[in-house]
Amino acid sequence: MLSERIKNMVPSGTLEINARVFELREAGTEIVNLSVGEPDFNTSDAAKIGGIKAIVENKTRYDKAPGLMELREAICGKLSRENGVEYTPDQIVVTNGAKQCITNACLTLLNPGDEVLIPAPYWVSYPEIVKICGGKPVFVETKRENDFKLTGEDIEKYATDKTKMIILCNPSNPLGTVHTRAELQGIADVCVPRGIYIMSDEVYERICFADEFVSMASISEAKDMTVLINGLSKSIPMTGWRIGYTATTAEIAKAMGSLQGHITSHPSMVSQWAGVDALNSGSDYTGMMIGKYRERMEAASAYLKKELPEVPFIEPKGAFYLFLDISCVKSAIEALPGATEEYSKDFTMKLLNEKHVAVAPGSAFGMDGFIRIAYATDLDSIIEGLSRIKDLVKELESK
Ligand SMILES: Cc1ncc(COP(=O)(O)O)c(C=O)c1O
Repeated sequence: MLSERIKNMVPSGTLEINARVFELREAGTEIVNLSVGEPDFNTSDAAKIGGIKAIVENKTRYDKAPGLMELREAICGKLSRENGVEYTPDQIVVTNGAKQCITNACLTLLNPGDEVLIPAPYWVSYPEIVKICGGKPVFVETKRENDFKLTGEDIEKYATDKTKMIILCNPSNPLGTVHTRAELQGIADVCVPRGIYIMSDEVYERICFADEFVSMASISEAKDMTVLINGLSKSIPMTGWRIGYTATTAEIAKAMGSLQGHITSHPSMVSQWAGVDALNSGSDYTGMMIGKYRERMEAASAYLKKELPEVPFIEPKGAFYLFLDISCVKSAIEALPGATEEYSKDFTMKLLNEKHVAVAPGSAFGMDGFIRIAYATDLDSIIEGLSRIKDLVKELESK
């Protein structure tokens, strides 16, 4: 019999979409896929060569649970150089992707029933990981006038004596927003005096179009209450290599390392050595990727503003997502035969079945009425996808 923990787990809200994409592709239909949260760039040469060298030089044995010392040193160097935050290797734990950082942090900090504030819209895995680890996700309603960015005020409304942690996704998946220093300070001002931990998921931090990216850990009074989550999946990119990392206090890092020692030991040594070379090499490749993302974001934003003004979107400042407000077609979608309670999902399925464009429904991120577009694909596909979205919106509006 399956455990209650597993029975309570909700499958990802994008599963149905992905399954239909596979079905259509198997039937020979070409899909414009704007649903994938994975960079379309290959892993940098520095990382690839680092991995190959590790294999050839037999650097493939068991190592320390919190991660290879050379990689933890490289991570400290990166955090100091790029984020202005100082950590020592005993404060770093290297994991199998950022997902494991989040799981490690929840298992290390949460007691059964502890509340974790999760601002909506949220990345799909946060609530499920919190539940698996015995915590209680509490969804925080954010405000449209703040572009749905979490504020200290929002936290104040939802915090109780059971609140142990908040999860901040910055830059945000799915919003594409980036918190300013003042906004982060506002969050710290509420969390720190109440002893609420701030899990700051900064995996998209290098993909930032704002004037600066500010890490939560750089707000000095918040640093000791921050569990910084980052990784190499999106930035190098090294999605399939599975390297994430946590930076936090030495006490929490030590506990996480012990936990990880029992569960997975550490990530692949080949991937860890690749990570060392990736982090210690120059930033030309990252710069090239960011340039491309910016070009696509600007082209997609310009297209939407000109061609589809009835579909407003959150001004993107980072990551590679556009969050589009499709409320203009709400009544048309809800009037369709077989409509469900989630009109963003119905719209998404209709778009996929009729126009062969895959996007993610806002309902998967806890916010119906929106769709998420990933611009981690070539510009022609993005514009083609947007023009088909426009066709569907116009058809629905004319009903
Ligand atoms: C916000 C956010 N955090 C964490 C992750 C997990 O990243 P990783 O591949 O390093 O496990 C993702 C992946 O899509 C993400 O979007």
